[in-house]
Amino acid sequence: MKTRIYQADEAIQPCGALLRAGELVCFPTETVYGLGANALDPAAVAKIFRVKNRPADNPLIAHICDPQMLEQTADSISPEMRKLAEKFWPGPLTIILPRGKKIPAIVSAGLSTVAVRCPEHPVALALIRAAGVPVVAPSANLSGRPSPTCLEHCLNDLTGKVAAIIDGGPCAIGLESTVVAPLGGKKVRILRPGGITPSMLEEAGFEAELDPAILKPVEKGQVVSSPGMLHRHYAPMAPMTIVTGDPEAVCAAIQKKLGPEVWVLAFDEYLDRFPQAVSFGSEKDPLSQSNALFSALRRFDTLPCKQIYAMYPAGDGVGLAVRNRLLRAASFQMISAERL
Ligand code: TXA
Ligand code: MG
Repeated sequence: MKTRIYQADEAIQPCGALLRAGELVCFPTETVYGLGANALDPAAVAKIFRVKNRPADNPLIAHICDPQMLEQTADSISPEMRKLAEKFWPGPLTIILPRGKKIPAIVSAGLSTVAVRCPEHPVALALIRAAGVPVVAPSANLSGRPSPTCLEHCLNDLTGKVAAIIDGGPCAIGLESTVVAPLGGKKVRILRPGGITPSMLEEAGFEAELDPAILKPVEKGQVVSSPGMLHRHYAPMAPMTIVTGDPEAVCAAIQKKLGPEVWVLAFDEYLDRFPQAVSFGSEKDPLSQSNALFSALRRFDTLPCKQIYAMYPAGDGVGLAVRNRLLRAASFQMISAERL
């Protein structure tokens, strides 16, 4: 299949028509690029699972552009969840809601719920409006690869496999949206951390609890709240070990392990301590870390690299999401600087 690359300003009408015709379109959002299909067309949705090689039990997020489209997507929404949506949409928040009658079962992998998000990106919103239907979109990577945060990542994974890719430049956040499930009233459980942080939810009057699977591996037989938690997440080809502790001690410990095929994921403040290092943004700026992580992970696979050591982010604000993705990429391999 020939994949057409569109610049954002000329993409909206033709790509909206492609979506309506059951084709797949890769588009930018403020979190990561999405691989879009018409959510009301089960055959189009099935293409997403095929193209990504995505396990059939991992449900998709339906993207909407306005409150009217929410009514086509979910049913019996509680007043509190409506308030949550009003407060944070458009934005990097996905809410698990009762699945609407028009949404085919394949979207939710058979669950009675549906994940819904209204993205805060002018191209994404205009595209959904032009399509005139809710658009399901997982991250636009092949299953098992890091989510794409720029055109180049999408081209690497999906050229020849989708009808169109829209270039919207680099994504503002660079990690996927926060996913929350209602627990009754103003209580929610965070299933996946992202750009909307626990303290933002609390400041808006919601009570947010963290799912235990966010910072710990899921144990065999454990019941999970989101199928995505069970699936293998991206790990670079070389094993990655996270080193914790005071940054100076971490640098000193890693320096003792350096060799020709050893690379370091280092904060900018410490890049010059290592002959072979990839930037992990600034130690003091969690957003710069979330911007850097997925590009860095993709880069390691292009390098002659047999072992990666990673510095560990502080975890405040969007840093919780950075920790969550880094831990999964390292298969939870973590050691303190004194013990390395
Ligand atoms: O930022 C994002 O959310 C991006 C952009 C494109 O919007 N999309 C994205 O989709 O990250 P995906 O498919 O890579 O991740 C969706 C996550 C998965 O972990 C999935 O298991 C979970 O949401 N999920 C979807 N529907 C669910 C449901 N009904 N109940 C529980 N978890 C659900
Ligand atoms: Mg994904």
